[in-house]
Amino acid sequence: MASSSGLSPVARPWVLLLVLALLQCSSAQFCSFWNNGCIDPLAQTAVSFNFQPLFTDPIYLYYGFDASSSGKGEGPMTKTGFWLRYEDRHVNKDAIEHNKTSEVALRVGNMTATPSGTHNGCDGIWGFECSNELKSAVQHSMFHLASSGFYYDRPLQKTLEHMLLSPPDLPHCGPFVLDVATIPVQDFAKEGTDQNVTVMPSGSGSHPWQVWYLDDMTAHQQASQVAVGIITRGPTYDSPPPISPDEIQVELVCLQAPQSPPSGSSKGHD
Ligand SMILES: *[C@@H]1O[C@H](CO)[C@@H](O)[C@H](O)[C@H]1NC(C)=O
Ligand SMILES: *[C@@H]1O[C@H](CO)[C@@H](O)[C@H](O)[C@H]1NC(C)=O
Ligand SMILES: *[C@@H]1O[C@H](CO)[C@@H](O)[C@H](O)[C@H]1NC(C)=O
Repeated sequence: MASSSGLSPVARPWVLLLVLALLQCSSAQFCSFWNNGCIDPLAQTAVSFNFQPLFTDPIYLYYGFDASSSGKGEGPMTKTGFWLRYEDRHVNKDAIEHNKTSEVALRVGNMTATPSGTHNGCDGIWGFECSNELKSAVQHSMFHLASSGFYYDRPLQKTLEHMLLSPPDLPHCGPFVLDVATIPVQDFAKEGTDQNVTVMPSGSGSHPWQVWYLDDMTAHQQASQVAVGIITRGPTYDSPPPISPDEIQVELVCLQAPQSPPSGSSKGHD
């Protein structure tokens, strides 16, 4: 008894020190605006979507942005980041037949709207027909790429590059749908032979998958933008090309990160 009660006064300062050290660690994780290896979002949101059959559980798409009122000294700028989180990285190995690459892309800019409706919130923005047209355009473009024999590393990245250069006809979508300078893409699952699959670890603010900067965008403006996630599971280069474009899985996710009203202390980023 005496020894245990004698221990606690000694033990407590150590506990306190440990807590202080942890607090220091977490404040050291603060990410500066110009560090593109992390993001300390001013506003962040996450939406879950289904990516069956490869993933049996829903996946979460995270999107957040940070802002600087002075940017590079000329105008306001924002910094955008995204990543996925899975409950676990277990995939349905029965779904694996060929070498496939799964990728996620995020489109931000020139489109203010509030997500609602089917296709994970996208139909409320541009209508059901446009969602179908956009999915079909991605499927056809990727199908042609895979059948062309031209080398590519990541099917969605190559497909979107092509679509931005020569926009497909999307009569039910406004012309603004592909009116962005860049659509960053990240691959996150690679299926190989022998039902082998490599899945990227979940991301976070300390490990965002893609980070990029938008000139002349204020935090207020970006808060009214809709971010469009395009998630595909397409043929890896040199694997047997799909028989029809419909075999290429394309999911759309639309989300918005409204900036919360300032809560007392404002974050300084300049
Ligand atoms: C918005 O559209 C304009 C004109 O096409 C383009 O120059 C600009 O880069 C686009 N904005 C973003 C964020 O991509
Ligand atoms: C599966 O992939 C891992 C990592 O790429 C590799 O080390 C392993 O040899 C592969 N296994 C089979 C059976 O192909
Ligand atoms: C699938 O990828 C593996 C390497 O991951 C490769 O050895 C194999 O040839 C590929 N199979 C097909 C059908 O392309």
